[in-house]
Amino acid sequence: MGSVAFDFSKDVVVITGAASGIGRGTALQFAKAGASLAICDMNLEEAEKTAAQCRELTSGKVIAVKMNVTNDDEVAAARDTIIKEMGTVDILFSNAGVSSKVMGPPLDIIPNSDWELVLQVNTLGMVKVCRAFAPVFREKRSGKIVLTSSIAAYTSTPRSMPYSVSKLATIGFAHAFSIEMGEYNVNVNTICPGFVYTNIYADGTAMKFRAALGGGLLKFNDNESVMNAMAAAGSSLKRAQKVEDMAYAVMFLCSEQAKEITGQVLNVDSGYVNRF
Ligand SMILES: NC(=O)c1ccc[n+]([C@@H]2O[C@H](COP(=O)([O-])OP(=O)(O)OC[C@H]3O[C@@H](n4cnc5c(N)ncnc54)[C@H](O)[C@@H]3O)[C@@H](O)[C@H]2O)c1
Repeated sequence: MGSVAFDFSKDVVVITGAASGIGRGTALQFAKAGASLAICDMNLEEAEKTAAQCRELTSGKVIAVKMNVTNDDEVAAARDTIIKEMGTVDILFSNAGVSSKVMGPPLDIIPNSDWELVLQVNTLGMVKVCRAFAPVFREKRSGKIVLTSSIAAYTSTPRSMPYSVSKLATIGFAHAFSIEMGEYNVNVNTICPGFVYTNIYADGTAMKFRAALGGGLLKFNDNESVMNAMAAAGSSLKRAQKVEDMAYAVMFLCSEQAKEITGQVLNVDSGYVNRF
């Protein structure tokens, strides 16, 4: 099979949630393609590690920037730092996200704190990041924005309401935002990852999956096996995905070859959503 070689050596790429998982994996692939990068995360220490890995791969400039996406002032300060250090922004990958801290309870006992955390980070955090960077793209009259939603927007497992709501809201936002930014020659698209084993599974997610699966797969007692079993049981290709699969989708959407694609949602899920 053939392969595609991406070249982002002229581009400044901003990634949120880039201290771990999909954000880190995407940063590394952009670095391999020669990009300059702003590695943004609330966890600066881990963001610095991503940045160091990227510097090994690209001759472009790479900076790590502290950005808690829930804090307007911090987002604006991070944007200003990025513009000062990098000169401009060509690509924004708004990807920071969290899962519910409490998995499994029905609606009447999901605490407000869980709704607030998930919506503050996944939905309002993304809005704050897009709002902060939109003027940069409007002024350039070019650029690419990719948002991370989830297959959970369409395939909510029982009792994971806050996360599903937050990710369906991402798609609604992206739709409207793509129309608004289209006037400025800016493409806005969304990826929906399926199952990628990252740190997001560290907090009780396996419990959610066990609840959704019933007794059949309870023999698994670690999160990765439960996740893989979910992916295998529900997807056409019978497998989970890797961070690189998300990176390639993002890079395609940010490439010149995808210049006529905007307002779209790309499920990168080995064929999970289409079986519902
Ligand atoms: N892993 C999957 O299977 C999967 C599936 C669907 C969607 N997603 C989505 O992909 C995105 C990345 O998740 P991941 O799997 O790489 O998880 P991860 O936990 O490995 O990475 C998430 C990153 O976001 C950062 N973050 C969290 N809250 C933040 C905040 N307030 N401000 C700034 N940074 C913050 C974390 O520090 C972390 O570095 C998320 O939006 C997640 O919802 C993941």
